[in-house]
Amino acid sequence: MIETRVTQLTSGAHVFHGYALDIAEELLKEIDLVVSVSPLRSVVTPSGKSMSVKMTNCGTRGWVSDRRGYRYEEKDPVTAKKWPVMPPGFVAIAKRSGAVAGYPDYEPNVCLINRYEPGNCMGLHQDKDERDFSQPIVSVSLGLSISFKIGGLSRQGSTTRIDLVHGDVLVFGGPARLAYHGVGKLREGEHPLTGKSRFNLTFRVS
Ligand code: SIN
Ligand code: FE2
Repeated sequence: MIETRVTQLTSGAHVFHGYALDIAEELLKEIDLVVSVSPLRSVVTPSGKSMSVKMTNCGTRGWVSDRRGYRYEEKDPVTAKKWPVMPPGFVAIAKRSGAVAGYPDYEPNVCLINRYEPGNCMGLHQDKDERDFSQPIVSVSLGLSISFKIGGLSRQGSTTRIDLVHGDVLVFGGPARLAYHGVGKLREGEHPLTGKSRFNLTFRVS
């Protein structure tokens, strides 16, 4: 097993620092492949607000948002085809991260890919559009770092903050599976592998 420093954020939420570093370049190549089939796109929330990050998906379903709501779709609404298959590096990091966090049978079927550019952010929200909350969320950070915060089951409660840097893996499940979380604005910067951007891979069982 890879030696890794772990930070507990809340009960059920842990950062495994640098846990994806050895596979980061492979993941970035695989992101390019996914994006060449199902492109990154801007989406609007049900209230009509544009989200600042651009996103796409791979796996058997994909998370989408539009005026009709948040949901998972079997087909990419942009291409009208199935989402790309989850690449092998994605499967490997997700399984390994689930296992190190205490979920040896973790087998996510979906991965949301978010791309942040300077100024992009994501407000506090819960990931609650999935069918199965018994399984954790594995979130992999690549490229520029960002300030992440996580709280409890209500939007109002206190939050814990941490910088997520290139190669970090965050796993939140159990008591933290429905925790409110979000990220601050991506600061200007230049990363040797991703330039002026940050990617986040969010694996879920849906
Ligand atoms: C998300 O919660 O969907 C994204 C979190 C992140 O970008 O780290
Ligand atoms: Fe989220």
